Amino acid sequence: MSEPVVAPPANLRVLVPADKIKARIEELGKQISADYQGPILMIGILKGAFIFMSDLARVIEKPTRVDFMGIASYGNAKSTSGEVKLTKDLDVSIEGMDVLVVEDIVDSGVTLTYLVHLLSQRRPRSIRIAAFLDKPERRMRPIKVNYCGFEIPDEFVVGYGLDYAEDYRNLKDIRVLES
Ligand code: IMP
Ligand code: MG
Repeated sequence: MSEPVVAPPANLRVLVPADKIKARIEELGKQISADYQGPILMIGILKGAFIFMSDLARVIEKPTRVDFMGIASYGNAKSTSGEVKLTKDLDVSIEGMDVLVVEDIVDSGVTLTYLVHLLSQRRPRSIRIAAFLDKPERRMRPIKVNYCGFEIPDEFVVGYGLDYAEDYRNLKDIRVLES
């Protein structure tokens, strides 16, 4: 078998350990469960949100449905160019639904601004945002995050679904990629 292409070994400093992640997700679940009557339509943004989405869904104690959207933002591996494209649309209608957009990280805010604009045209009853991480220092577009896992400094992080050039998504902790 030929060797797979993998990232060279990098220096990955733990920023948010797995046990803190677990505790915080449980808090978010309680908060969300208290805020909604249900049904909630969780919309996970691929691919980065896949782990957060599955952990969060399991601690929400209200009727919940899930769907996914794919978004590509052009740019290099570490920052957005400001251009966003839809690569996978929803399978279901969101009309009249309480939508909870589930995103891995809010950085410039470009992706979520685009998404909220797109989704609001489809007449949902409400749209709220759950973002696992937030880098408020990097914000270029104002966007309100209703449920935030952790605010982090302006550093490039990987793990718990987040990647660098498609690597490291499966790490249990959030780590800073120091290369
Ligand atoms: P925004 O449109 O600039 O807010 O970018 C959001 C997207 O950029 C996220 O959904 C991630 O895919 C990616 N991103 C931003 N910061 C990081 C990071 O530190 N690590 C991994 N991906 C990131
Ligand atoms: Mg993403």
